[in-house]
Amino acid sequence: MTVLEVIQRSAEFLTRKGVESPRLQVELLLAHVLEMPRLKLYLNFERSLTEAELGAMRELVKRRGAREPLQYLVGSTSFCGLELRVAPAVLIPRPETELLAERAWSFLAQLDSRPATALDFGTGSGCLAIALAARCPHAAITAIDVSAAAFAVAGENAARHGLGERIRFVLGDGFAALPAEARFHLIVANPPYIPSTELATLQPEVRDHEPRGALDGGADGLDFIRRLAAEGARWLQPGGRLMLEFGDDQAEPVVALFAKQGWGVEAVENDLTSRPRILVARLGSA
Ligand SMILES: C[S@@+](CC[C@H](N)C(=O)[O-])C[C@H]1O[C@@H](n2cnc3c(N)ncnc32)[C@H](O)[C@@H]1O
Repeated sequence: MTVLEVIQRSAEFLTRKGVESPRLQVELLLAHVLEMPRLKLYLNFERSLTEAELGAMRELVKRRGAREPLQYLVGSTSFCGLELRVAPAVLIPRPETELLAERAWSFLAQLDSRPATALDFGTGSGCLAIALAARCPHAAITAIDVSAAAFAVAGENAARHGLGERIRFVLGDGFAALPAEARFHLIVANPPYIPSTELATLQPEVRDHEPRGALDGGADGLDFIRRLAAEGARWLQPGGRLMLEFGDDQAEPVVALFAKQGWGVEAVENDLTSRPRILVARLGSA
């Protein structure tokens, strides 16, 4: 079978399985199997696949048809221009989280402190911690996660980018896992924020394959955010900021929660579809 035939047949199969952007998905899988950039497939439409390549492609297309996320199948994704390994133990980093990263490194960049210190709370793949360390050479980053499997992936990603020495990874449950004297200029978090009852309504890729501990925010989705609002202040340096991603209908309750705990809301920022998704909070009134 040729490259073009494989693309066409596989795309038809994924269409029947209800996968979005089936042709693009197939091209990305095939590029992965043939170890070539996707656009190079277009110069190789008539090339025949070997039996081994065909076997590998069939397996991946079958799994994609069963709604395994593409990023888990190819084992990587890109975040803020950095290639990161992803596995089912970690949430696949999302584009809106790149906005949080940008906001966070802009804040760290204008600090005079050496080092500028930041805590990535719930690091998952390590995407935020690694992006901050890469962008801010004067920053010392701490990253925490309660999942041992995520902790391992995040450490591997940091090492892959030569940032293992700049990020201190802590395995543990929330702030209690940190040394009592730790203080940060910035706390950044993309916490689990999906209400438990909504988990069943998510796309199969997310619902059946991404780690529940990275998604489930409790009855109203705000359990983890409540914890950050209540406990975060104690871990901040004077003048520090807490930056947080939340769900696309949570701006009002999130702002109310932080205001109630005495935080100043400095900004609520929109994602690329103009929905409020990021809170920037500081101690005292903004
Ligand atoms: C939504 S994911 C975010 C992952 C990554 N920061 C990102 O933006 O892609 C939330 C992460 O928080 C971690 N987490 C959940 N509860 C936690 C807790 N009590 N203490 C520390 N980390 C926790 C999960 O294991 C998961 O990796």
